[in-house]
Amino acid sequence: MREDSVLENVSIYQEVRAGLTALEGKNLYRRLRALEENRGTRAVWEGRKLLLFCSNDYLGLSRHPRVVCAAKKALDRYGVGAGAARLISGSTDVHEALEKKIARFKNKENALVFGSGFLANLGILTAFAEEGDTIIMDKLCHASLVDGARLSKAELRVFPHRNYAKCENLLKKCPGRRKILVTESVFSMDGDLADLGQIIRLRKKYGALLVVDDAHGTGVLGKEGRGATEGFSEGVDLVMGTLSKAAGGLGGFVAADKVLVDHLINFARPFVFATALPPVLCAAAAEAFTVMEEEPGIREKLRENIRKVHEGLTRLGFSLASPDSAILPVVLGDEGKALAAFEFLLSKGIYIPAVRYPTVPKGKARLRVTVSAAHTATEIDALIDAFAALGERDGKNP
Ligand SMILES: Cc1ncc(COP(=O)(O)O)c(C=O)c1O
Repeated sequence: MREDSVLENVSIYQEVRAGLTALEGKNLYRRLRALEENRGTRAVWEGRKLLLFCSNDYLGLSRHPRVVCAAKKALDRYGVGAGAARLISGSTDVHEALEKKIARFKNKENALVFGSGFLANLGILTAFAEEGDTIIMDKLCHASLVDGARLSKAELRVFPHRNYAKCENLLKKCPGRRKILVTESVFSMDGDLADLGQIIRLRKKYGALLVVDDAHGTGVLGKEGRGATEGFSEGVDLVMGTLSKAAGGLGGFVAADKVLVDHLINFARPFVFATALPPVLCAAAAEAFTVMEEEPGIREKLRENIRKVHEGLTRLGFSLASPDSAILPVVLGDEGKALAAFEFLLSKGIYIPAVRYPTVPKGKARLRVTVSAAHTATEIDALIDAFAALGERDGKNP
């Protein structure tokens, strides 16, 4: 008690408290909700049964029997943790097997796994860019890419979303010794796609190093599910991805030429100075990639579900971008409106938290609907019914 009252006097506590209150006033306060009995597409919260349309487990592999079985076996053999960084004693045959599999899956010479996708992006940009270099990035790139660029001390130049003419202008004017061009393949909050053909053309013309974050494309896009970079791997220097979305687990990866991977092993600080990804997660991810290759029906089911959700919501009058990926955001604009829509859907048993600033620009709050192959037809019908009620409540398209 006494300690608390001392802390009350520390001004940083007062400022932090005031900051959080101000955030709440702007409808930007975030809180955690602990879901119980999370079964992927279904969970329970405060006694209420909910359907989830917000996870990135696009193929439902987090619970696929083959993936779970591979994890259980690895758990028995290797335990829960790696014990040290890869360069100390944390590197195992399971890491190498996974990296070989990722390299083959992404049609690259080599691959390297990180503790998370976020760390992979920090590692890539800080290892390849430094003061005097220029990083040129699409405006809607993920926070991990922005933070990696900032940490690198290179100059960060941002071009308007998917505006490759502006991107070219920046490359032309680029004062940097080296240019690093960065884009996502599937934009995480909008679900639209980068024009990789254009980006690769610019990379060649201006001699830039191209980094493509394929976090939301891997396992989902491409004829064989190898990602948005499928068929483009030669033109992309570093294909980054995560093991936390379609692969269903946790971890990040980079696939690239051996020389670039060697550079990362030596200079990517989130790789060198962090404990290795646990072997159990590597084994699970390796099996997830095998399932992606051997069970294309799961991806077809996902496409079918995306089509159904897109058609259903569009029919109700909600304006959605084209269904290029499993991310179908319903942009509502005002933050309060998005929160109210979240609460309304919650009352109907649908769980889609409102995505607000700073994840998306101010005034562009949204319900980021995501679709999984694991959703059943009944679950999709329930989603559409709930949105119909939301539309009715607000007149038409809210
Ligand atoms: C585009 C993009 N890149 C990177 C990440 C980070 O990946 P992870 O969640 O595996 O750390 C995310 C995750 O939210 C993402 O959306």
